[in-house]
Amino acid sequence: MSHAFVKSERLQKLPPYLFAEIDRKKKAAIAAGKDVINLGVGDPDRPTPRPIIESLQKNVEVPSYHQYALDQGAPELRQSIADFYQRRYGIALDPASEILPLIGSKEGLAHFPLAVLNPGDISLVPDPCYPVYRSSSMFAGADVYTMPLVPELGFLPDLDAIPADVYARARLMFLNYPNNPTAGMADRAFFEKVVALAHQYDFVIAQDAAYNEMYYDEPALSILEIPGAKDVAVEFHSLSKTFNMTGWRVGFAVGNPAIVGALGQIKANTDSGIFTAIQMAAKTALDQYEILTPPIRDMYRQRRDAFVDALGKAGWKVKSPQSTFYVWIPCPAGVSSADMAGRILEEASVVLTPGLGFGRTADGFIRAALTVETPRLLEAVDRIAKLKF
Ligand SMILES: Cc1ncc(COP(=O)(O)O)c(C=O)c1O
Repeated sequence: MSHAFVKSERLQKLPPYLFAEIDRKKKAAIAAGKDVINLGVGDPDRPTPRPIIESLQKNVEVPSYHQYALDQGAPELRQSIADFYQRRYGIALDPASEILPLIGSKEGLAHFPLAVLNPGDISLVPDPCYPVYRSSSMFAGADVYTMPLVPELGFLPDLDAIPADVYARARLMFLNYPNNPTAGMADRAFFEKVVALAHQYDFVIAQDAAYNEMYYDEPALSILEIPGAKDVAVEFHSLSKTFNMTGWRVGFAVGNPAIVGALGQIKANTDSGIFTAIQMAAKTALDQYEILTPPIRDMYRQRRDAFVDALGKAGWKVKSPQSTFYVWIPCPAGVSSADMAGRILEEASVVLTPGLGFGRTADGFIRAALTVETPRLLEAVDRIAKLKF
């Protein structure tokens, strides 16, 4: 090539990758032989439950599963998702038109704006958030309008603060409850209000329910439980955290058939389905949801209680999360999240994620993921407690 390569404008417009500095420090600490405790990544440490592994082992032997999975989801998996939804949420879904298996929920969330947004439309995106909502909206040429999530409002966006002319141009609103990174939960009244606004202003709701099955007391709601939601909403689910299956890449979208169908059309032009043996293993997981998930929830509950209790004894006032495996820790006054995470990594060899990486609103917080065993969590608190801020 005679000229230097220039990245596409859509890539150039992306905000800088704010975890790069922490990544660099983490690798340096590991290379220096430090005993690093990694609470930085939302990736379950325990293995996938046995019945799901055995299902994959069996299904990998079926020759027809070795071919392209062209049905946009095996009919058996679609039916299993419909049955799960009926049992868990009391909602009937049509397996043929209201359910779409995904190569992990990230894949669906990343493609969704291409099905919904035109250049110049507004995409309403929470801050902090899983970064994919913002980048995928930008890839679709949309203008991103930021909805701050603050503790005073329970990490729900202030829907009344969004100007009418913004709502008028909005075609998509991303939501994520239970929330990463704040662990906020949406109640019925909030979902009702969003659904009413979506009807009034004619926008689509993408509710990311990746953590819906990781609750501790009150089960998390499906937005589709709200009357009228199916006209305007699609909900994204993931088997990743629910069943310790992040590497397997399987999730699903449910909701309005026209909108789910539009996402299916993008996918038909993009991928060729999920390996059918994995789809059958996902079916096994969902069919055994009631057996497989309570021990996982109990394990995180026990870790959460130990970690939050130890932080409290060390003088850190932290709210105990009611869902997700994230603890959202306020930084001491005047300390930025990047400085705090940087010092904790350098001086205590504990990896935490600075809130700023999820959005500007979150600079006063750092996130801990409960993805190591309890003794290591307690060791992490011991080390952090020795630091002075
Ligand atoms: C809020 C949120 N949504 C979606 C995902 C993606 O999950 P999946 O493994 O299903 O792609 C994650 C993963 O961390 C997440 O935190």
